[in-house]
Amino acid sequence: MKKQTLLLFPILLIAIFLYGFKKFVIDEQKTHLATNLDIRVEQKVDSVLALMHLNEKIGQLVQYSGKWNATGPSSSNGDQHKLNKLKNGEVGSMLNITSVESTRETQKIVMENSRLKIPLIFGYDVIHGYKTIFPIPLGESASWDLDIIKKTASIAAKEAAASGIQWTFAPMIDVSRDARWGRIMEGAGEDTYLNAVIGVARVQGFQGDDLSKSNTIAACAKHFAGYGFAEAGRDYNTVNIGEYELHNAILPPFKAAAEAGVATFMNSFNEIDGIPSTGNKMLQRDILKGDWGWNGFVVSDWGSIGELIAHGYAKDKKQAAEIALNAGSDMDMESYAYEAHLETLLKEKKISLAQLDDAVKRILRLKFNLGLFDDPYKYCDEAREKNNVYTKEHLAIARDAAKKSIVLLKNETKLLPFSKNLKSIAVIGPLADDKDAPLGNWRAKGEYNSSMSLLEGVKSAVGNNTKIYYEKGGDLTMPTIKPGDNQFLYPLRFNTTDVSGIPAAVEAAKKGEVVLLAIGEDAFQTGEGRSQTNIGFFGVQQQLLEAVYKVNKNVVIVLMNGRPMDISWAANNVPTILECWFLGSESGNAMADVLFGDYNPSGKLPVSFPHNVGQEPLYYNQKNTGRPYSPSHVTYSGYTDAPKTALYPFGFGLSYTTFEYKNLKLDKNTISKTEEIKLSVEVSNTGTRDGEEVVQLYIRDLVGSLTRPVKELKGFQKTMIKAGETKTIYFAVNADMLQFYTINKKWEVELGDFNVWVGGDSNAPLKASFSVTE
Ligand code: BGC
Repeated sequence: MKKQTLLLFPILLIAIFLYGFKKFVIDEQKTHLATNLDIRVEQKVDSVLALMHLNEKIGQLVQYSGKWNATGPSSSNGDQHKLNKLKNGEVGSMLNITSVESTRETQKIVMENSRLKIPLIFGYDVIHGYKTIFPIPLGESASWDLDIIKKTASIAAKEAAASGIQWTFAPMIDVSRDARWGRIMEGAGEDTYLNAVIGVARVQGFQGDDLSKSNTIAACAKHFAGYGFAEAGRDYNTVNIGEYELHNAILPPFKAAAEAGVATFMNSFNEIDGIPSTGNKMLQRDILKGDWGWNGFVVSDWGSIGELIAHGYAKDKKQAAEIALNAGSDMDMESYAYEAHLETLLKEKKISLAQLDDAVKRILRLKFNLGLFDDPYKYCDEAREKNNVYTKEHLAIARDAAKKSIVLLKNETKLLPFSKNLKSIAVIGPLADDKDAPLGNWRAKGEYNSSMSLLEGVKSAVGNNTKIYYEKGGDLTMPTIKPGDNQFLYPLRFNTTDVSGIPAAVEAAKKGEVVLLAIGEDAFQTGEGRSQTNIGFFGVQQQLLEAVYKVNKNVVIVLMNGRPMDISWAANNVPTILECWFLGSESGNAMADVLFGDYNPSGKLPVSFPHNVGQEPLYYNQKNTGRPYSPSHVTYSGYTDAPKTALYPFGFGLSYTTFEYKNLKLDKNTISKTEEIKLSVEVSNTGTRDGEEVVQLYIRDLVGSLTRPVKELKGFQKTMIKAGETKTIYFAVNADMLQFYTINKKWEVELGDFNVWVGGDSNAPLKASFSVTE
């Protein structure tokens, strides 16, 4: 194949030249991540750039979505335009082309027709698995287990890479604090630090230590920036935050991803304080590429360059292209603005050749690092596509990740774990035998109805002596999504009033020794464009819950959902609640592992659960205000009709055992800015089962040049503690934990007093204090 490719090169000189590249790349085993420039790669990038005509340079900045059949583009006009551009070498990347056959065919168009034969890079939204589906990112974040998170990202990369893909548009590291926002399901929730460490784990999982390996893919930190702070939780909405909040709350996960060598960034649809991110020079050029010295490329979000017009920030596409390129948006995803206008803009000196070249170089750099110049078809391997995808091993990892993501919210009567010798179990609810919802939104190539339902998981966990009574009880009423359907075209129809299934469910509940009630959300109630003002139970679920609970108190609510929900009635009335998110391919098995005690739940909430939607946005790391809320002043910075605090706070989650924290000690109480404190705490497992605990460390800077949050997560350790055992856990409290973006517009530690808390959730009661002095 390589020989053939060489023979097809029209210009001999170029052929020899590119052959030289290939040898170079083969000699050089290690691929270097974007932050570490490799001089040999840079030389190759410069040599290619020197050969490129203007149309080819602009072409590298163009990304199209494929609407292709297996053997190439279909014949509509749009596709003909794309086909011609591919042939001319005027496309840098394609998204949404998935399969070895399709990527090979598309790559071939470029390799066999274009002058310079610069390979395409194929991108796809591989968000929580490719075909083996792992828990939705918010759910998986509840594991607080960086090893399993890294592992699932690496499996997703392996499967995607085996199908011809080299680039995922993940991880989403938008700090998100509003349950109404549908995309809260895609990230790690409300905390800045947790988003940073989980984001880095995902980047490392996708990219591995060598991008040129055929089982790793380039990652994309998105959405830069502030997308999760959309006003009122409405997707794409305006973001109004100040410069300091931007630096302290939103940017740290992005900086961490850049430092971890993430290959690409995607900008965001929203504006911040009047400037849409796609046109935000301060964010993309000054901070990301300037201050942070990051060398990857920024892809626009879908059509976001064109959307500068709707924002009222550009009068037409030409001006939009000018603004976006000058602001540092390197690749145009589906706006058709760069291909149409960059040449004229260059002639008119509205953009510079240096900036255009810089964008091209960033894209070529990644193509070299991925090994695409060495072999443009290296990701196209039918055998790997057949054997490396959706394997038993991958499903076992999916089960492991899923059980670790489950959060036990309530177990007041110690109903859980169940014995496997129960005489009967009633399995009830619209989600109880749903084999599709657990795949969640953004399920890539996860096949319709391919997950293990709760009912199936329970059946396979118990013996023949346990009788199972299943009743659906009612509908969630989302229309069925079939493979290939465009979920955006579906009307939102949730509220069924059909209660005809409830009597049968009540009868089943009466017969069951215990009841599993699977309620929550449909998979597509969260995700892009899925904002809601009601975060409670849709349809007849609340009626079903109350009717079932009336006849059998041994009910376990098995929640499946993509956002924090208003479950206040359930929390006030039903003693047992298990938060199961959308757990992916192995959902039912993982739930059974926890329900029957084969796995002791260890998940902790990455987002606060409110008493009601009116509390949103709700997050623990808020500011104190001048009139702080307290039990004696509930109206201060609070509400007259609802608590101010969360129903279930950030970091919360129970276990089948109990943990006790004591003896919080600091080895010193005064340090200089550069010294560190050794903190220790004893954590005892006071129950009768072994269990894992997430030991969390929170810090407050009491007085600052800017007001500081009432507490912030600064570290955690997930550790197994045997029944009866006491472990001493150590943290080093250092400048990294104490610094913030101060009034001086710098990250620095300020002198003064600090509080530190350690515990099993964000209400951690054990507290100590220390000071930073000259
Ligand atoms: C989303 C991105 C996604 C892109 C490509 C956009 O609508 O905001 O997160 O990566 O589409 O599918």
